[in-house]
Amino acid sequence: MSASHRMIYNGRAVETLGEGALTWRRLAGADLPMLADWLREPQVARWWNHEHTLEAVARDFGASVRGEEPGEDLVVSLDGHPIGLLQRAVIGDYPEDLAEFEALIEVPDGAVELDYLIADAALRGRGLGSRMIAAAVQSTWSDDPSVPAVLVAVVAANTASWRALEKAGLTRIAEGAMSPENPLDDPLHYIYRADRPQQHVDRLDALGRPTLGFLGDVMREATVVAGVNGARLPDNDDPRAQVVRHTTGS
Ligand SMILES: CC(C)(COP(=O)(O)OP(=O)(O)OC[C@H]1O[C@@H](n2cnc3c(N)ncnc32)[C@H](O)[C@@H]1OP(=O)(O)O)[C@@H](O)C(=O)NCCC(=O)NCCS
Repeated sequence: MSASHRMIYNGRAVETLGEGALTWRRLAGADLPMLADWLREPQVARWWNHEHTLEAVARDFGASVRGEEPGEDLVVSLDGHPIGLLQRAVIGDYPEDLAEFEALIEVPDGAVELDYLIADAALRGRGLGSRMIAAAVQSTWSDDPSVPAVLVAVVAANTASWRALEKAGLTRIAEGAMSPENPLDDPLHYIYRADRPQQHVDRLDALGRPTLGFLGDVMREATVVAGVNGARLPDNDDPRAQVVRHTTGS
């Protein structure tokens, strides 16, 4: 993969995947067999614990493919190769999730939750998960000006997941019992949170929230440059992306 670089770390040759382009797009019907394969991969099955026959996947993800779910199921690619799934949803659109969160914290109106997986075991533990999460959080601020915060609940035993959240800049704000995806797990969960950066809030206030107006133009530009809803994610070296970040104040 063109994104990988060999380097020496503690005397071992390792590959880093720090610079490949991460993109995402909506899950499509043609992705369902691939998704079923992903869900049966042992570590994914361990933590997602989702039925992975094609029939079950078509049943559970069909509404999303047809655009009938309030939440988004996004196929994430690294340099054009699908590597994982990212789910993003407004918590209030899923009353069961809202009740679970509200048992432990106050959920701000419009707060978004994420879930994620990297399908190939060989691609895990190399920084991709935290990059993917950080990009998803960053993109959320521009994709929907009404989202005040991102909240993620992770079962305490899933160290890789909550470490990836910490590396992506989220903060643990609470812990307590929630229903585990896998009944094997103890109910103890950690809740992580990222808040919309203040400069986004100031900018929106100055624009007279929630009208899109100027921001809508910026977001259309960002769609081309920085990857809102499926195009390319922000590239720090791309001067056009710099312009968008500067313009949006992020
Ligand atoms: C969760 C997931 C997306 C994280 O992606 P990733 O690419 O592995 O994450 P990163 O490499 O960015 O970070 C993982 C961190 O956890 C650490 N880690 C992994 N397993 C660990 C363990 N058992 N104990 C301690 N640390 C562990 C890694 O070392 C790394 O931290 P470090 O860089 O400080 O060493 C990925 O592991 C995955 O897809 N898992 C299966 C599905 C899943 O669990 N989804 C989440 C459901 S909430």
